[in-house]
Amino acid sequence: MNEKKKEGFGSKLGFIFAAAGSAVGLGNIWRFPYLAAKYGGGIFLLVYIILAVTFGFSLMITEIGIGRKTGKSVIGAYKDVDKRFAFLGPVAAVVPFIITPYYCVIGGWVLKYLAIFATGYGKTVADDGEFFTGFIGEWMQPSLFFLAFAILTALVVILGVQKGIEMMSKILMPVLLVLIVGIAIYTLTIPGAFAGAKYYILPNFKGFTFPMFLKTLVAAMGQLFYSMSLAMGIMVTYGSYMRKEDSLEGSVRQIEIFDTSVAFLAGLIIVPAVFAFSGGDPEALGKGPSLMFITLPNVFRTMKGGQIVGTFFFFLVALAALTSSISLLETIVSIVCEKTKLNRIVGTIICFVFVALVGMTSVFGYSIWDKVTIFGYQFLDFYDFISNNVIMPVVSLVTCILIGYFAKTKYIEEEVLHGEEKFGARGLYKVMILAVCPICMIIILVSNLFLSL
Ligand code: PHE
Repeated sequence: MNEKKKEGFGSKLGFIFAAAGSAVGLGNIWRFPYLAAKYGGGIFLLVYIILAVTFGFSLMITEIGIGRKTGKSVIGAYKDVDKRFAFLGPVAAVVPFIITPYYCVIGGWVLKYLAIFATGYGKTVADDGEFFTGFIGEWMQPSLFFLAFAILTALVVILGVQKGIEMMSKILMPVLLVLIVGIAIYTLTIPGAFAGAKYYILPNFKGFTFPMFLKTLVAAMGQLFYSMSLAMGIMVTYGSYMRKEDSLEGSVRQIEIFDTSVAFLAGLIIVPAVFAFSGGDPEALGKGPSLMFITLPNVFRTMKGGQIVGTFFFFLVALAALTSSISLLETIVSIVCEKTKLNRIVGTIICFVFVALVGMTSVFGYSIWDKVTIFGYQFLDFYDFISNNVIMPVVSLVTCILIGYFAKTKYIEEEVLHGEEKFGARGLYKVMILAVCPICMIIILVSNLFLSL
């Protein structure tokens, strides 16, 4: 039906690294550790891992399967599955258009911190947050770093799927893995860090109530979803570049293992480090967004060799953010090129201009427009809320309904059987898509909209 004449990944490993590159990002390194610390350490880890191999696995295999079967970008893909669900493509496609600009803005912040540590000025950023608020409160520097990050992303995308994305992922992902393992080992040698590691890994049931368990569940589900880059057309797009002869189930397993390991290791760096330097106070971890840009730089300031560790750490974060933003930009470029028939270079330039313009609203939102809010949110936070908390759960819910009840799970099962003899987790997959995933999505949606968790 669909002869894939378009460009695709040249190898299975290339695909896995590229998809893992998308999945491993700021979410793993910065959001996962503080959620784990907040929701009972080991309990969160356990819940997360169980959800990853069931819920995350099923959603990811569905998206990649749809992409590979149809060979289309997200807009065409859902229409190909069932005409009545054609609306789902544009809805999912909205998400990367919203996220790419602000993701690059945060990528710019990371570059700034990398530059500071690499040039030996790490000590200047360590204070009680004034440096950070001063930095984002003024627009010039954040704009420059944001544009630098966006240009780096665009350069890789311009080079194409094989020469750009696949090549870069094959180099950057192993580097990232070595760095994270290295920093984790070093951090664990700091006096006091071991207690933090224990706090992080061992489940802490003391005072853990049922409502807290529910909150943990919802938080873990939301995190998983974001971390695996689901519900925004990315995995559909990357799936459309995947070779037919490669194993779908095996690849998804490997992407999951990669993504979850990096998140786990990031926690193994951050939780013990912060723990050691705050005298064992878990509160220090609960600070959310400020963890990466305020708490950690403080830790690096006091740590032996902190200048170097800080440089490596922010380099690691920059790599993780870059491979994610590449996947985001690639998704919107593929949509624009498919719709307009423009070539990749022109398509990328147009998307870059879009990202630059919309991203500036996030930069301004924290500086010269800091009085302007949308429904009480700053620009960046509004983009984040609307995409992650509203559109993404809706897209996943409708995708489950589409595959479970209209196209039927056979649609994906057949695609899985293209690359391998049997679909090992077929039974699990069916139960998840027909019942568990839709129910989970409804819970996430309701709790995001009505309860502030
Ligand atoms: N999965 C990425 C992370 O963990 C986040 C991301 C979201 C990447 C959306 C691409 C698109 O940070």
